[in-house]
Amino acid sequence: IPVDPFDLVIFGGTGDLARRKILPGLFRRFLAGQMPPESRVIGAARSEYGDDEYRAEVKAALEEFIAKDSRPAKDVKAFLDRIHYVAIDATGKAGWSDLKKLLRSDVVQAFYFSVAPSLFGPLAERLHEWKCAVKDARIVVEKPFGRDLESARALNRTLGDHFDESQIYRIDHYLGKETVQNLMAVRFGNMLFEPLWNAQYVDHVQITVAETVGVNGRGAYYDKSGAMRDMVQNHLMQLLCLIAMEPPSRFDPDAVRDEKLKVIRALDPVDKNDIVRGQYVSEEDGESYLEQVEDPDSLTESFIAMKLNISNWRWAGVPFYLRTGKKLKARASEIAIVFKDAPHSIFGQELGRHRNILAIRLQPNEGITLGVTIKEPGPGGMRLVDVPLDMTFKDALGPDGDEIPDAYERLIMDVIRGNQTLFMRGDEVEAAWAWTDPLIKGWIERGERPKSYDVGSTGPEDAAVLMHREGRKWRDIKA
Ligand code: BG6
Repeated sequence: IPVDPFDLVIFGGTGDLARRKILPGLFRRFLAGQMPPESRVIGAARSEYGDDEYRAEVKAALEEFIAKDSRPAKDVKAFLDRIHYVAIDATGKAGWSDLKKLLRSDVVQAFYFSVAPSLFGPLAERLHEWKCAVKDARIVVEKPFGRDLESARALNRTLGDHFDESQIYRIDHYLGKETVQNLMAVRFGNMLFEPLWNAQYVDHVQITVAETVGVNGRGAYYDKSGAMRDMVQNHLMQLLCLIAMEPPSRFDPDAVRDEKLKVIRALDPVDKNDIVRGQYVSEEDGESYLEQVEDPDSLTESFIAMKLNISNWRWAGVPFYLRTGKKLKARASEIAIVFKDAPHSIFGQELGRHRNILAIRLQPNEGITLGVTIKEPGPGGMRLVDVPLDMTFKDALGPDGDEIPDAYERLIMDVIRGNQTLFMRGDEVEAAWAWTDPLIKGWIERGERPKSYDVGSTGPEDAAVLMHREGRKWRDIKA
């Protein structure tokens, strides 16, 4: 879908996210012909750069993050021509009149707050004060959106003082991932799955987001957050919502977000025995969690596994198991819907050995596998085996499926189009914190120490027990 010409201002334009994701993403969209000629990207940050110096930085970022054969020199040059820069003081006066002069009121305006949340307020105020933003200008904000309910409410109020909810785009980059969107396509574009998508047929659901990276380099931020705040409250919660929500009446922003909100509000509080927190350890010097953060006694978790219940008609009694962690065995994220046993075995074999599992691989190797039971070939009688009906999106979609766009590319273009479907609404974020807060408070009050797990493992032993004690088991973590 084409987009209208735009001015996109990136506050924090010299920062890490701009270099790694936003600018390379914009360049790819530019190559795809989605950046109309009159569009401009305006970096805004503290450094006293001119356009040329900033362009040199952007060029370096493209060189670092985009493969050489995907960035022909003439395209890089044409893209850089659309890049501008304003040196700005987010909390003072400097630079605002320059920015105001540069902005046009007859194109789409978007302001990307790629800065610390403490600057959201000052930026919103100044945009208002200097009358930089037109009436339907879009404000894009990154996570973390608060660190608890109170701070999230404060951020919502701050933004709400100057902008309408319909202008605010809270990014959860998981919603921009192609396969995450495919979750909705699979559920609501097929007749096959939805009738079975409930407590009558589903035994349980597993959501795994496993990473191999550690916290090295980000220890200062991470140690104040932990896996619960960093991943569960946002990314895993969004995945859970998309799996558990009722079919929205339309694929439009509020219809979808209303349904997600209902799921979050239907989550039961989690019993402390249904949560396992972990911290990675390594025999190698400097590789353990506690060596990579400032506080050598830190009680912050780099892994969490938990069992959730959703109290509504569709899901009562169906556990949702979530786990995510750093420094695990493989980078592999998937959602698995594990169906119940067939009610009766006509083959005289034990039930429970053969179960249909629908696994949706988010990354890597994006695709879907449906485990089905068939007869083992050969004359040896009716022996059953489980085989995968396996589809990798890349193969199924042919050459066009080759390039799965990065989450940010999709999301930035949605901002320009004015489509909020894949962005979190204020009440959704608050509801997620309202559910998260008491759990975190609980383990802090109990002074709970996370369980150790080895770098390269699947997490602490207790996470396996969480499943075993109910006769279930986690799927393997493999790329
Ligand atoms: C970020 C978290 O939001 O998501 C990081 O802050 C995490 O800790 C990252 O590594 C994972 O994203 P992705 O796209 O690599 O799965």
